[in-house]
Amino acid sequence: MSTASMIIVDLLAGVLAAGGWLGAGAAAATGRRRLTLGLAAAAALATLARAGTTVVLARAGWWFAGEKVLIGAPLSLAGLAAVALRRGPLPLLFAGYACAAAVLVTVLHGYPASPSAGLLAAAGVAGATLVSGRLLGGRRLPRTAVVATVTALAAGVGLAVAPGAAPAVPHHHGAFAAAPATGAPAERFTLTAGTTTVRAGGHDVRAWAFNGQVPGPQLTATVGDVLEVTLRNRDIGRGVTLHWHGYDVPNSQDGVPGVTQAAVLPGQEFVYRFTADQPGTYWYHTHEASDIGVRMGLYGVLVVRPARVTGVDVTVPVHTLAGHPLPEAVTAPVRAGTPVRLRLINTDSTTHRYALAGAPFEVAAIDGRDLRGPTPLEATAVLIPAGGRYDLTFTAPAAPVALFVDGRAVYSTGPNSTGPNSTGPNSTGPVTAATGGWPALDPLTYGAPAAAAPLPPPDRRFTLVLDRGLDLHGLLPRYAHTVNGAAYPGIPDEVVHLGETVEFTIVNRSLAVHPWHLHGHHVLIVSRDGTPSTGSPLWQDSFDVRPGEIWKVVFRADNPGRWANHCHNLPHADAGMMLHLRYA
Ligand code: C2O
Ligand code: CU
Repeated sequence: MSTASMIIVDLLAGVLAAGGWLGAGAAAATGRRRLTLGLAAAAALATLARAGTTVVLARAGWWFAGEKVLIGAPLSLAGLAAVALRRGPLPLLFAGYACAAAVLVTVLHGYPASPSAGLLAAAGVAGATLVSGRLLGGRRLPRTAVVATVTALAAGVGLAVAPGAAPAVPHHHGAFAAAPATGAPAERFTLTAGTTTVRAGGHDVRAWAFNGQVPGPQLTATVGDVLEVTLRNRDIGRGVTLHWHGYDVPNSQDGVPGVTQAAVLPGQEFVYRFTADQPGTYWYHTHEASDIGVRMGLYGVLVVRPARVTGVDVTVPVHTLAGHPLPEAVTAPVRAGTPVRLRLINTDSTTHRYALAGAPFEVAAIDGRDLRGPTPLEATAVLIPAGGRYDLTFTAPAAPVALFVDGRAVYSTGPNSTGPNSTGPNSTGPVTAATGGWPALDPLTYGAPAAAAPLPPPDRRFTLVLDRGLDLHGLLPRYAHTVNGAAYPGIPDEVVHLGETVEFTIVNRSLAVHPWHLHGHHVLIVSRDGTPSTGSPLWQDSFDVRPGEIWKVVFRADNPGRWANHCHNLPHADAGMMLHLRYA
């Protein structure tokens, strides 16, 4: 069973155990013996099952089970012991509270276990048991127990809301103002952000757009150009910036408000300059209020072309605008024998599935980096993480070729294969949408490995455990998306030194996919769940860490500054899953 399923089974067992013991307690209190026995037996089984799932999860990685072993298991054991040693409803209720607390510690707090979580759980169980005892027996509450409970509660709350290990966010405005590119710009663009109405899926849709269009204008440069992009904000009240997603610019040009620049407010402008020295497929988007901003349409494509271009070059930036999938389907005939490059971009917050039918193709590049020794693929889909880019190349055959995104025809080279009609029963085209059953490419096993390791061994290591949890540090408590049990802005910076090789271990113990995205650097994928990457060296800036997965990646600390490091499911980033990498 996968770690992800084990996480679910563990949760279910915990809920059943808690519910079973509480139900048994209630049944006992109302004198229903048979029901009491039945529920208690079920609860005991569920409690034992949770012991089993805890062991399995701990073997998958301590991150998956730390708080279960240190807090949940002792509580549950105390509950079992109470039931074994004493009769009556109260021990059953105690076991119920203990098992419920064990589940809550996992769901609200998670990894790493902390003294505050332990204290709060113990206080909750003790408090609930004392009150139940009073209600059942009418005896006065034992004084020392009450004092101990209240003390544990106060200490737990104090520790939970104290700033603790997470230092205040250091201020480094301008400290890393690495000079933007100099030299006469070869490519000048102006992007004006504003509210507007656009057509999408045959509807008028309210949008936020660059130059009145969604996506914004495609910015195309040729390797060696200096790019100069003037950002203006007409009327986006929240402010806007431009972040060059996947393009490793100097820190001062990275477009992260509050870190590398201030947000550009209505009536203001900001000029970005950088050298187009990294050929490949990228995109740009606002990084101010990025969840709503990108969703509403503040994004566009950035392509840096090699000096010599041959064949047909098509960009396919996939997006969901007010529920309508973009782009609209296009058909563009291509003469047989012509080389075609499809630049697939996922600008949404969740994974999309792309399938190219009608010709063998290669994955030439991922996230703007060419792959080594790509081999021809057929009847294979590719899954592109939020923010990710895949370049597919093929030679146009005589018959049409069609690209499907989540089953929808988006691009094709022939009249018979495009549009929604071609996927219907009356389709006469040679290309069909029957791509749903195709297996997905695993990029970790695709292409040819490098002769030598691309990076020296790590000098510095960080672990990022992704989860959900209660964040009590803001104005209002919230159920945040967390990294190592903390949420933005309470997650300490990762501090590195120029020239170091840095290793991230990224562990997903939540039930959601987290497309991880580090600014300013491409990371080399080392392994997934302990299995080393065996294909081409895989340099990514956006990669999906699925529930239960453990990814190891390394990168060279070669771009000084303070860099955002976050989940690119932007609602998750907004809800806390964001931290910074900083050069000391
Ligand atoms: Cu495309 Cu910080 O993100
Ligand atoms: Cu996420």
